[in-house]
Amino acid sequence: MIELINIQKKYLLKNKSINALNDINIKFEEGKLYGIMGESGSGKSTLMQIIGLLIEPTSGILKIDGHNASKLSEKNIANLRKEKLAYIFQSFNLIPTMNVTENVILPLYTNRNLTKKEKVEKVNNLLNSLGIGNRNKHYPNQLSGGEQQRVAIARALCNNPDIILADEPTASLDKENAIKILSILKKLSNQNKCVIVICHDDIIKDYADEIIYLKNGRM
Ligand SMILES: Nc1ncnc2c1ncn2[C@@H]1O[C@H](COP(=O)(O)OP(=O)(O)OP(=O)(O)O)[C@@H](O)[C@H]1O
Ligand SMILES: [Mg+2]
Repeated sequence: MIELINIQKKYLLKNKSINALNDINIKFEEGKLYGIMGESGSGKSTLMQIIGLLIEPTSGILKIDGHNASKLSEKNIANLRKEKLAYIFQSFNLIPTMNVTENVILPLYTNRNLTKKEKVEKVNNLLNSLGIGNRNKHYPNQLSGGEQQRVAIARALCNNPDIILADEPTASLDKENAIKILSILKKLSNQNKCVIVICHDDIIKDYADEIIYLKNGRM
C-alpha cells in the first residue's frame, strides 16, 4: 500500500544541511499497525510527513498503491490527502474559533453523500466512542491536552480513511486513555486499514504488528 525506496531527507537551514533521514526502505501494508520509535530528533515526524505527502523527500521514491507520488498531479495529491489519508498531528492543529463538533465535522464539509443531520450523528458517535461526547460544545482552549488530542483523532477518523498516520497520539494522555486510543487504532488496523503510529512509550509494543526504530535518521 505504501512503499519507501531509498528515501533521504535533508533540511537546509541557514546554509547548514541537516540529514534528517537516510536509506529508508520499508513497505507498509493494510491491516497492520506499525509503531515508529526513536529518540527526539531521530526523524520520526519527518518520516511521517513524507508518507502523509506533506513534505517531499530530497531523494528516493515514495509509492502509494503502486503510484510514484512524485509523478502525481497536485490535484491527485490533494485528493489522496482528502480521501485516503488521515493525519493526526503532534500538535493538535485544532481551529481555536470552532467548537469540538465543528472541528471534527470539517473533513465532511465537502461530502455530499451525507445530510447535515447524518454528519452530526456520525461526529457524535465518534466523540462518544472516544469518551468526549460531553465536550462537543467546548472550544479547544476549554479542553485538557488529552481531550484536544482525542478531538484531533476524531477529526482524522471522520472521513473513514484507509491510511491513518498518528504522530504521538498518546503523548498527552494518562495510561488509561492511552490504552483506549491505541485500542481504537488497533481496531482500525483490524478493519484492514494501514495504521502508523509514532510513540515513545513501550506500551506501543503491545499493539503494533511491527516496530520501526529510527536512530539519527536511519532505520
Ligand atoms: N523544517 C525543518 N527545518 C530544519 N530542520 C528540521 C525541520 N524539521 C525537523 N528538522 C530537524 O530534523 C531532525 C528530525 O526531526 P523530526 O521532527 O523528524 O524528529 P522526531 O524524531 O520527530 O523528534 P521528536 O520526538 O522530538 O518529535 C531534527 O534534528 C530536527 O531538528
Ligand atoms: Mg516528532
